[in-house]
Amino acid sequence: MKAAESGIQEYKMNAVINVKDVLLKKYAEKFGRDPEIVAYAPGRVEILGNHTDYNEGCVLSAAINFGTYFAISARTDGEAHLIAGDIMQEVVFDPARPEATKENMWANYVKGVLAGLVAKSKPSHGFDAMFLGNLPLGSGLSSSAALEVSSGLAFVKLYGMEVDKLELARIGQKAEHEFAGVKTGLLDQVSSLYGKEYSLVWSDFRTYEFKSVKISPDVCFLLCNTNVRHALVDGAYNERRERCDQATMFFANTLDKPVKALRDVTWEDWIEHHDKMDELTARRSAHPIGENERVLSGIEMLRNNDLTGFGRLMFESHESSRVNFENSCPELDTLVAGAQAVPGVLGARLSGGGFGGSAVVMTTKRDVDAVSTTLRNIYANKYGARCDTRIITCSDGARVL
Ligand code: GLA
Repeated sequence: MKAAESGIQEYKMNAVINVKDVLLKKYAEKFGRDPEIVAYAPGRVEILGNHTDYNEGCVLSAAINFGTYFAISARTDGEAHLIAGDIMQEVVFDPARPEATKENMWANYVKGVLAGLVAKSKPSHGFDAMFLGNLPLGSGLSSSAALEVSSGLAFVKLYGMEVDKLELARIGQKAEHEFAGVKTGLLDQVSSLYGKEYSLVWSDFRTYEFKSVKISPDVCFLLCNTNVRHALVDGAYNERRERCDQATMFFANTLDKPVKALRDVTWEDWIEHHDKMDELTARRSAHPIGENERVLSGIEMLRNNDLTGFGRLMFESHESSRVNFENSCPELDTLVAGAQAVPGVLGARLSGGGFGGSAVVMTTKRDVDAVSTTLRNIYANKYGARCDTRIITCSDGARVL
C-alpha cells in the first residue's frame, strides 16, 4: 500500500476504534469494577490567531474529533491511584498534596489540576483513575489540555465542587505554568471546553467572551502531523512571550493611548514606530499584532462565506510565523508551501505553539482525500518519512458522559 493510502486507512481506523470502550475494559481489569464517572475532553486546532491569547487578543480555533477520556471512582482510603492507560504506568500520591515530579511527568498535568481544585476544598477521600485518548503527543493538538480538562471535569464531579468553565480553564493553565513550566495562554483549555459542532470558537482573551462562528458544512480541515518536535520548544515559547512583553512596554511608553497588551497596538502603530525598537523585538511583535487583525478580518469573511479570502489569511499567518515569530520549522514550511499549489486547498498554516507539530489545511469535503494524498507524497518525497494526516471535524466541547 502506498504511504498516502495507508494514512487515509489509518484515519478510518481511528474513527472506528472506540477509545472509551478500550478504557472501560482496561479500567475494569485493573480496578475490578466500572468507573463511577467518565469525562471526555477534545483536543483543539488553532485556525487563526497565533500567539495572540497571552497578548489579550482574539483567536479562532475548534475543538476536534479526537480527545482524552478520564475514568474515575472514589476510594474509601485517602490514596490517589492514577494510571496512564496507554502505557499502563501507575502513580500513587496524596490527593490533598499533589506535587510535580521528574519521573512520570505525564502525571504532572493531572496533579497540577488537582492542586488547583484542592486549594478550594480539601478532598475527603482518594480515587482510582485511568485515562486514555487518541491525540498524538507533541503534535500541536493540545493533548495536555485535553488531559487537564477531562481530569478537571472528573474531579469536580467526584468531589461535588462548583467550578465554571472559565475557572477550570484557568486551573488547567496554572497546571501548565506551575507543574509543566510552560507559560502558555488559555487557548487550549478554552477551545476544549467551549467547542461547538460545525463551528469555530471565537475567543476574546481580553473580555473572556467565547462565541461560536458557524462554518460552511462543505469546509473540511486536514491536519498534517510532521511528527517533529524540536528540542527546547518550551524554552522558545517562554522566550517569545517575554519578547511580546518587552514590545508591550515599548508601545506603552511610545503611544499616546493606554497600552496594556499588544492587543492595544494596531498595525498602523507598528508601521509608524517599529524602527525605533530593536529589530528582533519589532519583528516578534509584528506577529501577534498582525494575527489579531487577521482574526477580526477572518470573522467577517466567514460571515460572508468568503472562504478564499479566509484561506489567504491562513497563508499570511504562516508566513508571519515563518519570518517574524520564527516559530515554524522546515517540515511545516514544506507542507504549507506545498499546499499552496495543490488544487482544492483554500489555506494552510501551522497550528498552535509551533516549532514542529502540525499544519492545518483548509479544504472542502470533496477535495480532502486528494489533498491528503498529494501532501503526504510531497512530504515523503522530501523527507523520506511519514507525515500523518487526519480529517478534523469541529466538535462539541468537553463534558462528563
Ligand atoms: C500553545 C499555547 C497556547 C497558545 C498557542 C499559540 O498552544 O498553549 O496558549 O499560545 O500555543 O497560539
